[in-house]
Amino acid sequence: MKREELVALACEAMERAYAPYSRFRVGAALLTKSGKVYQGCNIENAAYGPSNCAERTAFFQAIYEGEREFSAIAIVGGLEGKIRGFTAPCGVCRQVMQEFCKPDFEIHLWNGKTYQTYTLGNLLPIGFSAENISE
Ligand code: THU
Repeated sequence: MKREELVALACEAMERAYAPYSRFRVGAALLTKSGKVYQGCNIENAAYGPSNCAERTAFFQAIYEGEREFSAIAIVGGLEGKIRGFTAPCGVCRQVMQEFCKPDFEIHLWNGKTYQTYTLGNLLPIGFSAENISE
């Protein structure tokens, strides 16, 4: 699947955001190695802490469905859903990616005009993973 198509699916997912507190809507589209796509949006909470990012919504949905191998994710976001800048994944989402993805996992960002592509290795170097706690 092309980067443009994955970003389009992230934009579609952003429409479903539940973000009444920050009004910052985020959408993500997660591509499995077998070619399936799982979409996610941010889901906020009046207590703030229980809010969930779009990336984790997509990952948790995919994991629940039994998926374990991922090749890329596209992420878009903007205040009131207007994409003006790049939305990079937060630290917690990077750590969730680290649990399930290799360092070559691709992260595509779109600011409404241009693309940026990173790898998980770029965004989370020297990460902590299952290997660290294995015997
Ligand atoms: N958010 C995401 O969903 N993904 C990101 O990569 C950055 C932040 C959400 C969390 C919160 O609902 C809103 O954006 C503002 O921080």
